[in-house]
Amino acid sequence: MERLQKIIAQSGYCSRRKAEELITLGKVKVNGEVVTQLGTKVSYEDTIFVNGKPLSKKEDKVYYLLNKPRGVVTTSSDEYDRKTVLDLLPEGKRVYPVGRLDYDTTGVLLITNDGELTNLLIHPKNHVEKTYIAKVEGILLKQDLEKLCTGVMIMGKKTSRAKARIKKIDKKTNTTLVELTIYEGRNHQVKKMFEAIGYPVMKLRREKFAFLTTDGLKSGEYRPLSIKEVKKLYNEGKK
Ligand code: URA
Repeated sequence: MERLQKIIAQSGYCSRRKAEELITLGKVKVNGEVVTQLGTKVSYEDTIFVNGKPLSKKEDKVYYLLNKPRGVVTTSSDEYDRKTVLDLLPEGKRVYPVGRLDYDTTGVLLITNDGELTNLLIHPKNHVEKTYIAKVEGILLKQDLEKLCTGVMIMGKKTSRAKARIKKIDKKTNTTLVELTIYEGRNHQVKKMFEAIGYPVMKLRREKFAFLTTDGLKSGEYRPLSIKEVKKLYNEGKK
């Protein structure tokens, strides 16, 4: 017997956190009965319906590393019918991105049907390292760089410690290239952090997610992760 949210996540339907949300909202039925109690124990023999559809049984896990191009959304479906990252991957398996990158952000994006791993990697308490390269408007002052590291207020809450360094200053175009490493994953966090200190982001790229980079992948290309990499990611999430 396993906790209901774990079984839903393991089926690849969604992350464990999302499963908990669906259970609480009364969207999950076990053997015909709505279950809203988190942690209800179920087995693979039970009939589970989520959002009115039967939950598929445990499926093989797949893990892809995509070099996300600009102009693609990270959600699985888009209200404006724009291209999604899933359009760039092989069809067949129901997979979803681990966290989000904005429409105009490029770089490392992990995509999987392993809800358990997704949950570990996106959980704020696990502090998975994410490194971004941002081209910002203006010449970034040292004291403002320091603010990025110690924390700035965004959406009413101070960001936690981060690492930042200037890679290049271009006085002609009045822009700065900054490397920023963060350990949280709030919505539009990097853009909001720069906005908070008065330097709008013009271009954003995620260089690294944990130890993964896009080395060897052209924009829009993907590769499967090795078993070793998957194990390492599990360890990252459990640090
Ligand atoms: N922070 C942002 O502002 N945008 C992204 O796409 C990722 C992190």
